[in-house]
Amino acid sequence: MIGPSVVRVTVLLSKGISRSAAAKLGEGRYWHKAAQADPAGMSVAGGSGNAGVEEGSGFWPKAHVRENLEPSSSSAHSSYDFTRYRHAGRSSKGIPMPQQSLSEFVSAMEAAGMLIRVKEEKRVDELPRVMEDHPTTAVLVDKITGCEFSFLANAYSNQDQYAWAMSCKKSETGMKMVEASLGRIKPVVVGTAPCKEVILKGDNVDMTIFPMFLHHERDGQSYSDDNLVVSKDPDTGVYDWGFYRSMFRAKNERGFDMTCTSHRARINAQKAAVKGKNLEIAVVIGAPILDKLAALKGFPPDVDDFEVLGSFYGEAAKLVKCETIDLMVPANAEVVLECELMATEGWVHDEAPFGEFTGMYGGGLKHNVRAVVKAITHRKNGIFQYATIGCGHPWYTDNMLQLPAMEADLFGALKDSALDVLEVRADPAGLSNIAYAKIRKQGAGDAKQALSVMLGSSKMAIPKVAYVFDEDVDIWDDNQVKWALAFRFDPIRDTVIIPCMNTMTVDPMIAKDDPPATISKIGFDCTIPWGEKWVQSDFQRSAPFELGEPPAGVSFMAEDAIAKEMESLIRSAPRSWKEILQHFKGQNYRDVYRAFGLLRSRLGRVVQPPFFPYAFSDTGDFIGDASAAPPTSFDRLHHKS
Ligand SMILES: Cc1cc2nc3c(=O)[nH]c(=O)nc-3n(C[C@H](O)[C@H](O)[C@H](O)COP(=O)(O)O)c2cc1C
Repeated sequence: MIGPSVVRVTVLLSKGISRSAAAKLGEGRYWHKAAQADPAGMSVAGGSGNAGVEEGSGFWPKAHVRENLEPSSSSAHSSYDFTRYRHAGRSSKGIPMPQQSLSEFVSAMEAAGMLIRVKEEKRVDELPRVMEDHPTTAVLVDKITGCEFSFLANAYSNQDQYAWAMSCKKSETGMKMVEASLGRIKPVVVGTAPCKEVILKGDNVDMTIFPMFLHHERDGQSYSDDNLVVSKDPDTGVYDWGFYRSMFRAKNERGFDMTCTSHRARINAQKAAVKGKNLEIAVVIGAPILDKLAALKGFPPDVDDFEVLGSFYGEAAKLVKCETIDLMVPANAEVVLECELMATEGWVHDEAPFGEFTGMYGGGLKHNVRAVVKAITHRKNGIFQYATIGCGHPWYTDNMLQLPAMEADLFGALKDSALDVLEVRADPAGLSNIAYAKIRKQGAGDAKQALSVMLGSSKMAIPKVAYVFDEDVDIWDDNQVKWALAFRFDPIRDTVIIPCMNTMTVDPMIAKDDPPATISKIGFDCTIPWGEKWVQSDFQRSAPFELGEPPAGVSFMAEDAIAKEMESLIRSAPRSWKEILQHFKGQNYRDVYRAFGLLRSRLGRVVQPPFFPYAFSDTGDFIGDASAAPPTSFDRLHHKS
């Protein structure tokens, strides 16, 4: 209902009707006036304080409609029906799903049958088992003993969920992410947001208000992993947000794992430290999948992640100011931790172990950074989101968000390298360390070229193993993948190994004497080789031959007559057996085969793939440039004389 009504409000406003009257007419609960540019390059909606928010109303708009999106049906629909919009000529302008609150997102998941709600009250220490028991769906625990928050987990854990969030097929998710990541829409700043319902500062900052537990038995402490860490480049002010796991240290202090050298929050922290400063970070806990996909798409430091977020929404992301630090966070945040990352102290604090997404405890005890929490802001009785990572089914945990992100990174990089890439797949079993690409080769070296791009282009430093296939291979079908590996791959020619590349630090295969966080990477060229050395038709797939229904009114011929006609047919040109059968279609098959037998002693085969047709021969069975089978003294059936 709200989507169409928002359009109506906008139209009425442009005709000069008053805001409140228009809102009433359009049933709109929220609107923002035309964006005004502010010095930070953002736009401000609604002015200061609570302006921009309908008084007495819930903050969050139910839904918005962009002009380039059309309702798929004019009939009434639920606000949460993700399928109600279809793309209307959209190109790099965003996914048809505007910024949603976490509770709207939860309702949508529940309606789509993708979320299980646990109604009985749980203790915090029971949460690891609850998560483990729901590997394929999101799970929401309504009530936790001694805690005001409900608990959401596993809400971005598999490719079905990502495809659903992006309104596309699984195989399209990466490509859709590339498309969305090309757009930039400047964010707007709103006066307030639900995450301001409770503001805790100073001594009131106490992380134990959240559900806390030991997730994996060897973890160093209680962790939170659903942390989208927002920071600004100290030199340029450009915004970044990305996931960083975080370990409890004290009620106002947390450790962060920022060891991956290419990750922007780490780079920002290092830049700040060089200036002798700490880094302000805001940790956003809780957001719909779309926000997370946008956050995980890798960009160089000059790209503003919130402009990208707008492109994923198809409209400007709404941001709200933090209370104690000079940062903005998305206005749909459920919980925000405003922190000072103690970059000047360096990477000197213990952090880990943690039951990682690999299903193991990789990385050992790490040297990491700590942060002091200056304020906690959150929605009252909100949802605390947690990322399920590790344990018995690593292919169904929230870290699998890396799959579409890697697909997008690789797809975009292959395209930028002028390779004709058709699809990229990162399958769950490979846990983002294995990737497949399907390409249309334009040059003999394209596959090796593609492998080098795939192994080196994602700033997440993944995958370790890459495969390239031709366009006729369905890379989403494991049987076809293995078939191509079995018969289009020559280990000595088609393997690319690059030593000492960056990798994820949690890989237990990194040897103690390797340079830190490096490992070798391998690529398999599973495409048909080009060149004279290979018979191209040998790679073609066999298909059943269907002669088809006999034509009506065929007059049957005797064996001799068939033999005579077959002789002149073959004398006119060499003929494959398929052609001969097609010529005599409708004749009694026994007479056709017997007639052929009458000619066979005078026939040979033209050495001409793929059919090697029959022709009359004075030189034996092989006609053309065939050399005789090489004699061998070992094979007694292969006679020498
Ligand atoms: C659930 C989840 C947890 C993650 N935890 C970490 C982490 O603790 N440290 C890290 O360096 N990367 C982690 N990553 C990967 C990065 O967040 C990811 O590569 C991101 O792009 C980095 O963001 P940035 O470079 O924009 O700051 C995690 C990814 C996911 C999906």
